[in-house]
Amino acid sequence: AYARDRFITVVPEIEMPGHSMPALAAYPEVSCTFFAQTAWRIATGMNHPTNYCPGKERTFQFLQDVLDEVMALFPSEVIHIGGDEVNKYQWTKCADCQKRMEQERLEDPEALQSWFLHRIETYLNKKGRAMMGWDEILEGGLAPNAQVMSWRGEAGGIAAAKQGHNVVMSPTSHCYFDYSYQAISTQAAFEYEPVPAGLTEEEGRRVRGAQANVWTEWMPTWSKVESMVFPRILGIADRL
Ligand code: ACM
Ligand code: ZN
Repeated sequence: AYARDRFITVVPEIEMPGHSMPALAAYPEVSCTFFAQTAWRIATGMNHPTNYCPGKERTFQFLQDVLDEVMALFPSEVIHIGGDEVNKYQWTKCADCQKRMEQERLEDPEALQSWFLHRIETYLNKKGRAMMGWDEILEGGLAPNAQVMSWRGEAGGIAAAKQGHNVVMSPTSHCYFDYSYQAISTQAAFEYEPVPAGLTEEEGRRVRGAQANVWTEWMPTWSKVESMVFPRILGIADRL
């Protein structure tokens, strides 16, 4: 309501199926391994689950419950479900995932990720919301109302705009305020142009703007966060 009074729509991002270690630490029964990990790291092995298990039905019950709560709180037309940086190693070793792949005739873990996202997308659409995700979600094909946030450069956003999807640009080159000022200067933030030159006018209109990110897992204090965000955020805001 505070945001709405100021003409702002908050789009919540509920990350899945990767980057989900905190949820799995509390609910290990929706992981592949039933282990609880409580220290942050990018997972490389079975001992470090960070993905939901798409082989288990209870995973979808859990995520639908979470999304129901989120949709009740946030009136946004889109719900961001992440979809990025999924290390699929655990899925190749999990009996439930292997069974799911057999039943659904999925050839590889990439197809399992795509199947997972489509199932979530169908659920959101049924509730009258559109799915948004990071550019990895392009890899398995999308419903026409899906929206893409481009972070691995602008290529994903360009491809999505050409396919008719709405896009938000958030490339690591200009929009990652957890990166140092050597990597992304204040001037670079002020000069960022969210609509890439190669798009037609119609495609360009699908770029809704830019998002700046500040991932805080390495920022122990609020003053550190503020020093990374300001003044660069003023530059991105000025470009919208
Ligand atoms: C991302 O930074 N992994 C979206
Ligand atoms: Zn699994």
